[in-house]
Amino acid sequence: MLVLNSRTVFGYEANSSVRLGLLGCGNRGSAVAESFARNTSARIVALADLFSDNLAAGQERFNKLNVSLGQSPIDSKLLFRGPHCFEQLANSKEVDLIQISTPPYFHVQHLEAAVAAGKHVYCEKPVGVDITQAKRALEIAQRVKLNQSVDVGFQIRNAPPIAALAMRIKNGALGRIATASGNYNAPASTEKKREGEGQDEYRLRNWLWDRVLSGDILVEQNIHIIDLCNWMLGAHPVKAATTGGRNVLTHYGDCWDNYQVDFTYPNDVHFSFFSTQFGTDGVFDAGMKLFGSNGSATCPYSGPITITGSNAWSWQDSKSTGEGSGAFAANGAFLDNLEFADRDKERTFIDSIVSGPAHNQIAEGVETALSCILGRMAGYQKHEVTWDQMLAQKENWQLGFSLEQFA
Ligand SMILES: NC(=O)c1ccc[n+]([C@@H]2O[C@H](COP(=O)([O-])OP(=O)(O)OC[C@H]3O[C@@H](n4cnc5c(N)ncnc54)[C@H](O)[C@@H]3O)[C@@H](O)[C@H]2O)c1
Repeated sequence: MLVLNSRTVFGYEANSSVRLGLLGCGNRGSAVAESFARNTSARIVALADLFSDNLAAGQERFNKLNVSLGQSPIDSKLLFRGPHCFEQLANSKEVDLIQISTPPYFHVQHLEAAVAAGKHVYCEKPVGVDITQAKRALEIAQRVKLNQSVDVGFQIRNAPPIAALAMRIKNGALGRIATASGNYNAPASTEKKREGEGQDEYRLRNWLWDRVLSGDILVEQNIHIIDLCNWMLGAHPVKAATTGGRNVLTHYGDCWDNYQVDFTYPNDVHFSFFSTQFGTDGVFDAGMKLFGSNGSATCPYSGPITITGSNAWSWQDSKSTGEGSGAFAANGAFLDNLEFADRDKERTFIDSIVSGPAHNQIAEGVETALSCILGRMAGYQKHEVTWDQMLAQKENWQLGFSLEQFA
């Protein structure tokens, strides 16, 4: 019988590295790529960005990093700029893995090009900002080849204390789950302004304030907690009723600054979710709780992670002080319970590329994006929306300008 080394099957020898191309050299993208380089066998070999200043900043950062890790600086032939940079990166033979860290509006378009080119992909959440994009992503999921690995950036699932808690909940530690609650209270994001820029460029650089580009705060940022709820309950919501609005923000943009969503899951389990995003006091607090017939679970980003009741348990190795809120990290590199989330997510992903089995997380990523879109739709339309009603809508958001002006 012929026994093939799985590393050979997947095309990587034990000591070879996975060549990573970063698409979107911004705050989160650069932090994740650096973490890949420091914690896995991936090497940063290519960079792509719409804007030359961000590409140049990426070049400087990753050249320094590569040299400090004993690797080569980035070949200038593998620096791509402008509206077609995602296609040039996808067509590059020197790249195995594309990390998509562009604003949410572009994720599905960029995912499509990377998957079609046969690359492994690490795609930031959300996978789609509207119904049309989400459905297109599900079609792309069907085209992922068996030896192609695609991850979506829900790194919170890989945080060791949260993974340990989820395993216990899935094994029935809480008994029959009756209800859940969650929150995401974050400070405002800061304005990015450049001398002489036009309105379209301003919008692109301040995409976090813009519904079309970001999906609004529920879809762009609160998605992490809604993803935890889907994961822990093993289902997506069947309907949502939402209130909220833009009560205090006065700067440019149309994203809401607060949401209150009542998600109904199967078996009439309600998830009561509350979020805010404004203010400069720096206060940050995110997490969720689940309440079951045998006990309750507490799962904050920062603070003790515990189960009470007949299967009482608490995470013992956390570096969290448990003294309240942790600090907000706009680049997603949180401390406390999330300190090792990115590292462990990236290691698991690179293992799936090097030795298999390959991942294909697109459908799961879409399910969570649609769960958030459901809550958002119920808010914008001011009435309860069911999952099926949501899917029947033809939501198809347009940017309203061409990126060719940045060629
Ligand atoms: N998983 C997490 O915890 C987490 C945390 C923060 C951000 N994110 C996600 O990461 C992504 C990037 O966020 P960020 O904070 O780095 O934003 P950012 O604005 O700092 O960076 C975005 C980069 O993409 C570039 N860009 C914009 N449009 C482009 C296009 N069409 N083609 C190529 N490049 C383009 C910009 O020039 C910029 O360099 C977003 O999807 C965001 O939702 C995830």
